[in-house]
Amino acid sequence: MTTAIIGTGGIGSVIARRLAAGGEILRLSSADKESARTLAAEIGGAAVVAVDNRDALRGADAVVLALRFTALKGVIGEIADPLADKLVVVPSNPLAIDAQGNVVRLLPKGQSSGEAVAGWVPAAARLAMAFGTMSADLFESASGRSPEPAVLFYATDDDRAGEEVERLIRTAGFEQVKVGGIEQSGRLEEGGDLHDLVVGPAEARSLIGGR
Ligand SMILES: NC(=O)c1ccc[n+]([C@@H]2O[C@H](COP(=O)([O-])OP(=O)(O)OC[C@H]3O[C@@H](n4cnc5c(N)ncnc54)[C@H](OP(=O)(O)O)[C@@H]3O)[C@@H](O)[C@H]2O)c1
Repeated sequence: MTTAIIGTGGIGSVIARRLAAGGEILRLSSADKESARTLAAEIGGAAVVAVDNRDALRGADAVVLALRFTALKGVIGEIADPLADKLVVVPSNPLAIDAQGNVVRLLPKGQSSGEAVAGWVPAAARLAMAFGTMSADLFESASGRSPEPAVLFYATDDDRAGEEVERLIRTAGFEQVKVGGIEQSGRLEEGGDLHDLVVGPAEARSLIGGR
């Protein structure tokens, strides 16, 4: 199947490499195209560079918006029509770097990136928050772990989105565990109790119920 990846930086490039290794066809887009071109050349025949963000969605079954939180709302507005009836996967944390180089939170305490993004995507899109629970390095090293696979947690309000994101998680070399609806997505994000954890399925399930 085909997935569009918009944003081919730190996390988008790792997600792309692992999905391609699992057999997914990719359509890549980035702001100035250079990082998308470099990544497509590295991946080979399974990845093409789209002309722009809207073109990335052409023929795609799903899209991963691997963008900094500050870019998300604008890009969602730009691609709103083609997002309808697609799985939209978002790994973004609500963080930015200020002028002094400090990491700052962009949303009030208690409001998650997932809850904000749910207000921006069109109603006909199927949103899942996933693929942002680990740093890019951890994600790459934990993918394809054996004999016990590592877990990627996800959150969604939509059953069909759940099935679709589970397929993508398995394609990327992980086992999937649902944390709950979008209102639970703060648990996956920076500062959440499930962020940056590399655990197997049994421990993951006990953590889900363990609060
Ligand atoms: N990096 C991690 O380890 C990690 C782990 C988990 C979650 N996350 C979350 O994932 C999100 C992305 O982080 P990152 O580290 O991957 O950021 P990043 O390295 O800055 O990559 C952002 C990507 O977005 C692209 N971009 C920016 N504006 C765009 C636009 N209007 N249209 C299309 N592409 C655009 C950039 O394109 P150019 O390359 O052309 O500039 C770049 O490829 C953040 O919210 C972060 O919290 C990151």
